[in-house]
Amino acid sequence: MKLHTSLRSASLLSLVLQAATATAHSSTGHPDNIPDSYYHDEHSAEGLPYNLCDSCSCGEDWWAQGSCALFPDYYSSPNPVPSDVYPVVVPSSLMKKFGPENSTNPLCGHVMHLTGQNNVTVKAAITDTDTSGGFIMCYDLWELFGYDLNSPTYMDLSWKLIPNDTIGGND
Ligand SMILES: *[C@@H]1O[C@H](CO)[C@@H](O)[C@H](O)[C@H]1NC(C)=O
Ligand SMILES: *[C@@H]1O[C@H](CO)[C@@H](O)[C@H](O)[C@H]1NC(C)=O
Ligand SMILES: *[C@@H]1O[C@H](CO)[C@@H](O)[C@H](O)[C@H]1NC(C)=O
Repeated sequence: MKLHTSLRSASLLSLVLQAATATAHSSTGHPDNIPDSYYHDEHSAEGLPYNLCDSCSCGEDWWAQGSCALFPDYYSSPNPVPSDVYPVVVPSSLMKKFGPENSTNPLCGHVMHLTGQNNVTVKAAITDTDTSGGFIMCYDLWELFGYDLNSPTYMDLSWKLIPNDTIGGND
């Protein structure tokens, strides 16, 4: 168990290092009526784990079948998702400010800088919505942000959209 955990941390670390050196996935952007403040100011959010289980699968369905439908062919095309971007599910209340809770919502596919309670920052994409009121993360990100199975079931996050950086269907 301990060995498994440290191997996992090592691979997470290499992911972080990759993220730091990877080329930005920029697009030309699209007209979306999202206020500049979402790109310039840090917004706070409550982070929630999808499942407190270190071996549960998570994220694949968000890419393929989340309300944003970013990668509907996720299961049939190899590696369509940038490896340095984590999937997150955001609150319905946030999505509804900009449009319907489906793939036409301008927030869909937007990539953000997401910072955990330990001040580690990653790139994360908006894939889906949920009424739970928080940003839902997979366990790998939960761990990268310094929490584990014994931690509280929420953490403080901050986030800011990256200009002209979207992935998937709305790219
Ligand atoms: C985003 O894209 C638009 C349109 O191509 C461009 O005018 C703007 O400078 C870009 N912004 C950034 C921060 O790259
Ligand atoms: C998204 O929801 C709106 C409002 O309910 C609807 O008009 C539109 O057809 C939906 N689009 C898709 C692609 O589901
Ligand atoms: C994270 O950064 C904030 C603001 O700079 C600082 O107050 C806080 O102590 C930092 N927390 C950790 C765990 O480094």
